[in-house]
Amino acid sequence: MNMPLNPEQTTCFMIKTITPATALRGELSSLPPDKSIAHRAALFASVAKGESVIRNYSAAEDPQSTLSCLRDLGVPVETDGSTVIIRAKGRKTFSPVRQLIDCGNSGTTMRLLSGLVAGAGLDVTLTGDASLSSRPMKRIMDPLGLMGAQIASSDKNRPPLQFASHKGLRAIDYTLPMASAQVKSCVLLAGLFADGETRVTETLPSRDHTERMLGLETDFNADGSRVLKSSREFEVLPQQLKIPNDISAAAFWMVAASIIPGSEIVLRGVGINPSRSAVITILQRMGADIRVSVPPEASTSTTVGEPLADITIKSAKLSATDLLETEIPNAIDEIPVLAVAMAFAEGKSTVRKAAELRAKECDRIAAVAEMLQKAGLNIKEYADGFDVSGSRSNACQAADYSSHHDHRIAMAAAVLSLKADAPSTIHDADCAAISYPTFFRDLESLRS
Ligand code: S3P
Repeated sequence: MNMPLNPEQTTCFMIKTITPATALRGELSSLPPDKSIAHRAALFASVAKGESVIRNYSAAEDPQSTLSCLRDLGVPVETDGSTVIIRAKGRKTFSPVRQLIDCGNSGTTMRLLSGLVAGAGLDVTLTGDASLSSRPMKRIMDPLGLMGAQIASSDKNRPPLQFASHKGLRAIDYTLPMASAQVKSCVLLAGLFADGETRVTETLPSRDHTERMLGLETDFNADGSRVLKSSREFEVLPQQLKIPNDISAAAFWMVAASIIPGSEIVLRGVGINPSRSAVITILQRMGADIRVSVPPEASTSTTVGEPLADITIKSAKLSATDLLETEIPNAIDEIPVLAVAMAFAEGKSTVRKAAELRAKECDRIAAVAEMLQKAGLNIKEYADGFDVSGSRSNACQAADYSSHHDHRIAMAAAVLSLKADAPSTIHDADCAAISYPTFFRDLESLRS
């Protein structure tokens, strides 16, 4: 029988039923730790000399994929609850215990690890699930190939990626063809093994965790573009750090509290790195009531330069907005749930120059358009984005959604379902665990 037994319960068909909400109220102090920072903390620790201790490491599937890949590459990784301890021997730590390294659903794992695997000249194959196997890898294969890496793909530059040993990498001077922190980080990590100084120029800034956490040198070109540098001589230091909570997870509650009247949610210890916090600026520009306060005990010395804050959101009357080109890479993972906010904001909102959304865990432009249309809302799709014509009094009909096995689509559909006139269903909603294992439990805890 393909029917959920009770609202809010997952059936054996992994269908989640979400009932509408009247108001969401409460405090979340254990949001998932930041996924981007977790991947990096573990990967950087694997090429540092000495012991790194990473506290508040995420239990979500993607960051766990990074740990299992490192173990398969022979890196000593220990865990104690949410603490990860890695004792490494610098660039020579890797000693693969298997040939096939499974990155699961995680694009960040595959792209960043590729920089290290290519740098170390390992004979391994990086593979992933069906979604990851359909994602473009030419963007990393091109620069790594220029550096002298040997990488083959039997499926149009998509995973699996077969790496082979080589005679050593040479540094390159590379201008990123797209704003991508994954590509930037991949090249800089390979640069840690290369002969000479690798320079990566980004014309549009993307998240800066790699350069911030490693303490890489930065230059600026005359046109204002940033140049990041890495080299074999650069010393990667072991770190003792605590990972802040994930702003990309917090974004679902920022939108939910904003659009459901009578709501008030407090989110504790959220990372507010300026290259990730456009979601706050955008929602505030739309009229959202969001207050950001830095707790007295917060110190960036424990988070390797990553700032954190407590965030309080109250429901508000939203107005439409146009996303700026510079905001797209900064808010790239939050755009599906921002589209939900736009549907309940007065006027026409626009998202353009965001074609990168089509190359995420699923085609997020098509998935967002399908989601809003199913709810009876007004969205017009373009090759590089969409327009949403919203209204504060929009009626939202209950619907039967597909997550497209994309965690952020599953959670955006859940937030949208809270505004519906009857219970909605989400197929394959469990994939939320890729970034946010306790999402549905947290949702229930916030219902008043
Ligand atoms: C990430 C960068 C972004 C983002 C992804 C995580 C990272 O991808 O979408 O979820 O941690 O570097 P791109 O840099 O490819 O846009």
